[in-house]
Amino acid sequence: MSEREIKNLEEIFEARIARDEKIEPKDWMPEKYRQTHIRQMSQHAHSEIIGMLPEGNWITRAPSLRRKAALLAKVQDEAGHGLYLYSACETLGISRDELYEQLHSGKAKYSSIFNYPTITWADMGAIGWLVDGAAIINQVPLCNTSYGPYARAMVRVCKEESFHQRQGYEIMLTLCRGTEEQKAMAQDALNRWWWPSLMMLGPTDDQSVHTEQSMKWKLKRKSNDELRQQFIDQTAPQADVLGITIPDPDLKWNEETGHYDFGEIDWDEFWQVVKGHGPCNKERMKARVDAWENGEWVRDAAMAHAEKNEKRKIAKAS
Ligand SMILES: [Fe+2]
Ligand SMILES: [Fe+2]
Repeated sequence: MSEREIKNLEEIFEARIARDEKIEPKDWMPEKYRQTHIRQMSQHAHSEIIGMLPEGNWITRAPSLRRKAALLAKVQDEAGHGLYLYSACETLGISRDELYEQLHSGKAKYSSIFNYPTITWADMGAIGWLVDGAAIINQVPLCNTSYGPYARAMVRVCKEESFHQRQGYEIMLTLCRGTEEQKAMAQDALNRWWWPSLMMLGPTDDQSVHTEQSMKWKLKRKSNDELRQQFIDQTAPQADVLGITIPDPDLKWNEETGHYDFGEIDWDEFWQVVKGHGPCNKERMKARVDAWENGEWVRDAAMAHAEKNEKRKIAKAS
């Protein structure tokens, strides 16, 4: 293809995005658009899969059958989100094996929030309320993103995330209406998950390297700082209802701006965790790599079974 032809295609492509048309897998797209989407969608898929680990930790210790069933269903939802997103990612021409390889080798990133430990049952409440809550804020705008398979996946994922958020909040509410010890447990979980949840919405706009291009392609529709403010504005009143305190002395409603003011985020901690030095990075990666290696015989058996069936079919047909 000549340079002129490519330029032409690029113009048509940009015009389609400007008209809010969806880009579909077989459509022409700039290589950078493809790569950016592979990066973001696979990061998202990996986060769903790694995100099962901190909560999976409490399935066997949930305080009642009802809680166990709900938590189990939630963790299964996250597996579904991961698989759905891997499939959407594969429509851009990367294989599932490559995606797994990137995760297992440490080349791919996933959300840094999942590198924190889940110490008490209240963490299941705080994660649903705050982590799924922040995820929704991040993901709702993606329902309108320009890449069709990603946008459609997000519609379903967001519905499930909002259910997770509610069930997490309900765990918090139950603890906060319980004994003094239970309320203290809820407060402690809020103390530990609040700041990492704010970090989940990404570095500040002036530090975010991908924001500008992603906004242009409507892969991102709001900036990190806008999303973070929205999350804080939405969550602060919910903490008041629970009767527990957000661990930020600078958090205050600002009548003038119509938003909450909030304190300084410890970005050193964020970058440490992103670089692999969070409390559970090694543990999380080991769990995934072990699961992959221990599952080898299942994959081999499934392949052998499929081959045998195929041969049988051919033998019958001839
Ligand atoms: Fe999810
Ligand atoms: Fe979720």
